[in-house]
Amino acid sequence: MIGAGYVGLTSAAILADLGNTVWAVRKDIETIEIIKRGEAPFYEPGLAEIIKRNIEAGRLIPTIEYKEAVPPAEVVFICVGTPSLPNGEADLSQVFAAAEEIAQNLNGYKVIVDKSTVPVGTAEKVKEIIRKNLPENISFDMASCPEFLREGQAISDMLNPDRVVIGAETERAKSLLLKLHEPLSGERVVTDIKTAELIKYASNAFLATKISFINEVARLCETVEADVEDVARGMGLDKRIGRSFLKAGVGWGGSCFPKDTRALCFIANDSGHTFPLLKAVIEVNNEQRRRFVQKLKAAIGPLQDKIITVLGLAFKANTDDVRESASLEIIKLLLSEGAKIQAFDPMAGKNAQMALKEVSGVVFCQDAMSACQDAHAVAILTEWEEFKNLDWPVVKKVLKQPIVVDGRNLLDPESIRAKGFLYFSIGRP
Ligand code: UGA
Repeated sequence: MIGAGYVGLTSAAILADLGNTVWAVRKDIETIEIIKRGEAPFYEPGLAEIIKRNIEAGRLIPTIEYKEAVPPAEVVFICVGTPSLPNGEADLSQVFAAAEEIAQNLNGYKVIVDKSTVPVGTAEKVKEIIRKNLPENISFDMASCPEFLREGQAISDMLNPDRVVIGAETERAKSLLLKLHEPLSGERVVTDIKTAELIKYASNAFLATKISFINEVARLCETVEADVEDVARGMGLDKRIGRSFLKAGVGWGGSCFPKDTRALCFIANDSGHTFPLLKAVIEVNNEQRRRFVQKLKAAIGPLQDKIITVLGLAFKANTDDVRESASLEIIKLLLSEGAKIQAFDPMAGKNAQMALKEVSGVVFCQDAMSACQDAHAVAILTEWEEFKNLDWPVVKKVLKQPIVVDGRNLLDPESIRAKGFLYFSIGRP
């Protein structure tokens, strides 16, 4: 597994747990040392235990060296980052650098699999790079096995996927990958490499579309005084629509949807198709952040010198990841209007502090209650269960004014209002 970041390390640990010997390569000695100690370098429920038992069993071997990891392997996964370039295009420099080093260490037939989310046609480019850098004439096959796991529930998503997508060009590669994935449930989609590459982008873009759609419906609900939660339920019970990813809120964030929707727009543009639908999906998402700030202003007036409690910094619950988190984007908007922020997140405080280190005006608190002290309003921006179960009557006592603006529709409107709060949420009367 070349790349021991979120997807790489989780995949490596689980493939090891299924009985394979897995080398996890990352050129960052500090992270490798953490994994060697049997720990996870980021928060993912259940992952540390799996890492620990497979390190102890010798099936998971973290290393900084390709020359240790590539020669004994039958399958080499490329699972490095593909961040956005300023124009939205996926930056493939880490993928191409990995391809070069894999080639230099190839000692016999192997299947080289792209697991990173990469634009259509990347496998062809990787193949070319490997060919150019081979020390001798060694045969290999390219393949694409996109990953569909979600942060926060990565283990169960990986073990019980809805589908396993295998894009391969030869029978040999297909059968090796089918065998490797045999213990996993889910339907197999065996196809060509370009189709597999596109399945991943199309899936993420569609899920983002569902969320932007319901957020747009939420706006309509606010003007016609309907309840988006019931609209989503009523829609979602139709099996053709489905209930998941219809939760209205401050919009999608994270390390995948923002980057992948931008990249798919870029891929489409590049091939002469403008994909207006996807552009609108992205715009609705950006607007959703701005609308939250408007909502807060409508509740408490001008933000200059107001203290706002921000509950939740992670891009969603059950993770410490703050990449493209709606919360951080909203914090910046609030600061630009002169507000002061007291923030708390059960897991993501440290990462948020690093991400906002250039920004002044944010106090990171040790618990929710201290974040609420003397504040003019509470903004709920990540749907942590912990916030639902706060002692809200005590919160009311420490706040300057009892106002909650819930960007995740986490609280029950009736019960929070019964406690004496002025409560505003997304798309609910
Ligand atoms: C997403 C996909 O769900 C995975 O299938 C995919 O493998 C992964 O990207 C990836 O490409 O690696 P992830 O980014 O971990 O997974 O998180 P999601 O659970 O999809 O949530 C993404 C964002 O959408 C979060 O900000 C979340 O709060 C938001 N969201 C999700 C909503 O606002 N409403 C919903 O109904 C669902």
